[in-house]
Amino acid sequence: MIALDFSGQTAVVTGGLQGIGKAIAQLLHRGGANVVIGDIAARAREQSLRQLVLRTDVASREQAHQLIGAAVETFGGVDILVNSCGISAMSAVDAMSEADWQRILDVNVKAIGWLSEAAIPLMRARKAGRIINIASQAGKNGYRLMGQYVASKHAVLGLTKVMAIELARDNILVNAVCPGIVETEMKWRERREGAELRGMTPEAIYAEDCSQVLLGRTAQPADVAGVVAFLASPLAAYMTGQAINVTGGMTMH
Ligand SMILES: NC(=O)c1ccc[n+]([C@@H]2O[C@H](COP(=O)([O-])OP(=O)(O)OC[C@H]3O[C@@H](n4cnc5c(N)ncnc54)[C@H](O)[C@@H]3O)[C@@H](O)[C@H]2O)c1
Repeated sequence: MIALDFSGQTAVVTGGLQGIGKAIAQLLHRGGANVVIGDIAARAREQSLRQLVLRTDVASREQAHQLIGAAVETFGGVDILVNSCGISAMSAVDAMSEADWQRILDVNVKAIGWLSEAAIPLMRARKAGRIINIASQAGKNGYRLMGQYVASKHAVLGLTKVMAIELARDNILVNAVCPGIVETEMKWRERREGAELRGMTPEAIYAEDCSQVLLGRTAQPADVAGVVAFLASPLAAYMTGQAINVTGGMTMH
């Protein structure tokens, strides 16, 4: 197995306290990176060996800039930005709340802009950087009861392409990862809510989920983290503007 070495580099991971973001933060940290986690669920500022956790609502432009500022103060810069945090809500297209629209677009899409605008000048100055946006296969397909989320993830893929175009000349590589069905709190809540709306059980939805995946199982957060680490590494030095599926074969385009 190739051991990726991120020592001396600093990675900022949003939503890094749980689920996919946590697996990404842990893997990069194990690879030697300094890791800065911004998560709305953090209680206070916590610092440990090569790791800083800050309570951050990424929907706030000010807090997004503070997170990047803290990475600079503590570790001297930002080499890797992983925009992982995201939220979802379940409702039919004719029953969508304005509050859900606002929050989903703020957290899933606009926050990527806030974090990136703060990190780009640092990366530009060094003529190196990696930005990895966690989108979804919902950025490529439609899924029932998830109109707002699907729209937001399509937007993430569009934004990723524009960022790749604008930043390539500064050697800042921007890619998206599109996970399939990953066993996290988000997925478990979606199964519970989806079950209620569809008159099914969460177990039946789980079985339906597994039946759609070529590899016959849903993903664990570590399955996604491995691909993120690859994209952050020198192995991916010739990749930008891509949207990489990590779906066990469920999505092929
Ligand atoms: N779980 C899946 O099946 C799946 C599939 C495809 C894509 N994704 C995407 O992967 C990413 C991570 O999802 P997950 O399943 O690990 O979710 P999760 O709900 O398990 O974890 C999300 C984390 O983000 C944090 N967070 C939420 N809102 C925040 C905010 N405003 N500011 C800062 N932090 C915030 C939460 O506190 C939590 O720690 C999301 O972008 C999601 O859309 C998930």
